[in-house]
Amino acid sequence: MLKKKNKYVVAVAGATGAVGREMIELLEERSFPVGGLIALASESSEGERLQFMGRSVTVRRPAKDSFNDVDIALFSAGSERSLEFAPVAVKSGAVVIDNSSAFRMDPTVPLVVPEVNAHAIAKHRGIIANPNCSTIALVTALKPIHDAVKIKRVVVTTFQSVSGTGKKAIDELAGQTVALLNFRDIETNVYPHQIAFNCIPHIDAFLENGYTKEEMKLVDETRKIMEDDSIRVTATAVRVPVFRCHAESVNIETEKKISADEVRAVLSAAPGVIVYDDPTRGLYPLAIDVAGKDETYVGRIREDESLPNGINLWLVSDNLRKGAALNAVQIAEYLIR
Ligand SMILES: NC(=O)c1ccc[n+]([C@@H]2O[C@H](COP(=O)([O-])OP(=O)(O)OC[C@H]3O[C@@H](n4cnc5c(N)ncnc54)[C@H](OP(=O)(O)O)[C@@H]3O)[C@@H](O)[C@H]2O)c1
Repeated sequence: MLKKKNKYVVAVAGATGAVGREMIELLEERSFPVGGLIALASESSEGERLQFMGRSVTVRRPAKDSFNDVDIALFSAGSERSLEFAPVAVKSGAVVIDNSSAFRMDPTVPLVVPEVNAHAIAKHRGIIANPNCSTIALVTALKPIHDAVKIKRVVVTTFQSVSGTGKKAIDELAGQTVALLNFRDIETNVYPHQIAFNCIPHIDAFLENGYTKEEMKLVDETRKIMEDDSIRVTATAVRVPVFRCHAESVNIETEKKISADEVRAVLSAAPGVIVYDDPTRGLYPLAIDVAGKDETYVGRIREDESLPNGINLWLVSDNLRKGAALNAVQIAEYLIR
């Protein structure tokens, strides 16, 4: 358990990555009481200097003694590093908030979106897991509807930006776009196909059931966070040539009837959600508008005319902020309350 202090030593593992950099920015932006920042990354970034609160912090490689004196360790350096170093950090007395998928489905590890299940934080035994970026946005919008009319089934299709894969993927989309517009050959290293001017229905590895791991994360994590295994979820995850923000088309079947206006009212009152829904004026959530925002934006709310109790909606959320770094920092804020 975290001891109450005026200031906390915070480690960021993966400090030079797309999520890690965002975490450091958010700690500063939200005035988290940081008494010391430990920035960890791979060998290739060792010695690099990052700016935090007007001071320069040297990046180090994680080692067995990296977490001595650390109170909170934010991990975003991939599952392998989490599996190796999260237990080391816990043993050193830190509470770990892990962005990777390493511990998400471990029944002893809370999987938390503060707007949905903040109460689960208290059950941690040293590690708290941050859900998948698409799951975070999805459950933020689903929970208030579930509380109102109980959700039976969800059909979700995601449109996921390249920053969800990390900094190499951002470079790949930029590099391929420039190359193609200049009639040059492209390099494809991160994705199985060209991502510029393309959509790829393949995120993470394929499983025996024909789904990808990313799709099954949406299914399993949604049920765990909503604490309801009766909700049926099916997902298709698509990578799109967008730099930042994931969008999702969501079809929801509910037990009781709810109108589109009632959904708008329920979601307007929900924490972390902004209803942005006026198609007559061309207003609906767009990645370019939601980038840098904290909330999950929801629009195109309408009744599914093919079902007695069905709702369709479209949501957009910044995957690097609410989908990763912000959610982790919010959990840290709960820990020090
Ligand atoms: N991107 C998202 O939207 C998102 C959302 C939710 C969860 N996540 C999860 O967050 C994690 C990081 O994602 P990302 O998008 O930030 O990836 P990224 O941009 O590729 O950054 C990876 C970070 O991990 C560090 N790292 C790599 N190998 C390492 C090693 N052997 N030892 C220590 N540090 C190492 C990298 O250091 P170098 O810079 O030195 O290589 C970098 O700081 C992943 O587990 C991912 O699944 C990402």
